[in-house]
Amino acid sequence: MKYMTAEPFRIKVVEPIKKTTKQYRQECLKKAQYNAFRIRAEDVYVDCITDSGTSAMSQDQWSAMFQGDESYAGCKSFYRMEKSVQDVFGMPYVQPTHQGRAADYIMAQIYAKKDMYAIGNMHFDTFRGNAEVMGCIPLDYCIEEGQKANQDYHPFKGNIDISRMQKLIDTDLDKLCVCIMTVTCNNNGGQPVSMKNIREVSELCKANNIPFVVDSARLAENAYFIKIREPGYENVDIKDITREMFSYAETATMSSKKDGLVNMGGLFVTRNEDVYHQANQIAIVHEGFITYGGMSGRDMEALAVGLQEGTDFEYLSYRVNQVKYLGDRLKEKGIPIIEPAGGHGIYVDGKKFFPQIPQHEYPSQRMVVALYEEAGVRAVEIGACAFGKKDPVTGADIFPELETMRICISRRVYTNNHLDVIVEALGDIYKNRASYKGMRLVYEGPIVSLRHFTAGFELIK
Ligand code: F0G
Repeated sequence: MKYMTAEPFRIKVVEPIKKTTKQYRQECLKKAQYNAFRIRAEDVYVDCITDSGTSAMSQDQWSAMFQGDESYAGCKSFYRMEKSVQDVFGMPYVQPTHQGRAADYIMAQIYAKKDMYAIGNMHFDTFRGNAEVMGCIPLDYCIEEGQKANQDYHPFKGNIDISRMQKLIDTDLDKLCVCIMTVTCNNNGGQPVSMKNIREVSELCKANNIPFVVDSARLAENAYFIKIREPGYENVDIKDITREMFSYAETATMSSKKDGLVNMGGLFVTRNEDVYHQANQIAIVHEGFITYGGMSGRDMEALAVGLQEGTDFEYLSYRVNQVKYLGDRLKEKGIPIIEPAGGHGIYVDGKKFFPQIPQHEYPSQRMVVALYEEAGVRAVEIGACAFGKKDPVTGADIFPELETMRICISRRVYTNNHLDVIVEALGDIYKNRASYKGMRLVYEGPIVSLRHFTAGFELIK
């Protein structure tokens, strides 16, 4: 297979994308108040705002959709999906949801408790939001190497810091209600978690009676990293790795819109029958009956197939190496990215890219705007806007340690030529970096906690 390094698929259906002028894009930016979420998708040339729900489905997924059984209760599609989920997760009980955050909601309802701590490597926003609404306090206990945007190599920057976790257990065990491991760790660069760390965290949880949950949106990419980086796993099949990962947990949630290779869907999976029944109850009220939970029969068919394709080694190798290709090429241009490259995207360090722009003038958002303006490429800010907060007493801004622009790569959607567009444009912006000034936040929008979706900015002249 020496020469067979290209994509393990060929393209049967194409979706045209529009080329636009810089002047046109400047108008779009103005109308959107310089917020990438408010730009219309048709005005985007290469869309890297997320890898969620944006996968290209295969011929097998599309044909499976014709088998969709849309019966309200007990449809064939549910049982086909359930079998595929059980195969990948090795857990018996499967409650579908309409997308990941609905599974987060159910999980928070069951495990998050008022005035108690939910510990994790780095909680994703949707669980964090659900937990906070309930008065539960989410704590990020990722290892130090993963907390900062840096270039230092560590194979598993998503790991939980075991000794810090032990200290918290020693002082506050009665305040710990749940431990959630996010694989891969989205907020710090799509960084993986090692099997050793999952095992050790699980043992610590078991010994102290803390329920252990895995947020598994990118479970297959995490398994791929375990296979290629963790000694002892090089000859283990991806699905044996995923099953081992989940063997240490009581429950898993999944946004199927990532490694499930589908456009919509979520899962709440557990080995605890009581927890399953509680989840059924919440799902019936909020999502739909137990055997569809907000998904249509055809979508469950697509997921049944997508989970199998998403855990295929050849596919994963193409996938993760495409992301690495982008990272390597950006590095050639001297652009500061979080290293090593993560599973689903490249995160560019905003503070290092624009050292003259202070965090309160949104350096990563400035990069997002520049990249769209120059090349019609849409990325997303994960920094001062998305995770900035106000001190409840003084009202002063509190900025996050991580200040990045995330360039997400959709699965099976773009070729390396599209990625070269990003490299050339960002390379030129980097060459001219000294000429850029920051931005002013002029509108926070109705959603203050996740203000990056609605915020408005002005360019500082
Ligand atoms: N958990 C993780 C780790 C996620 O990355 C996401 C979504 C969710 C849960 C929520 O799932 O969107 O299906 O409701 N992440 C997307 C992103 C939105 O762009 O990273 P959802």
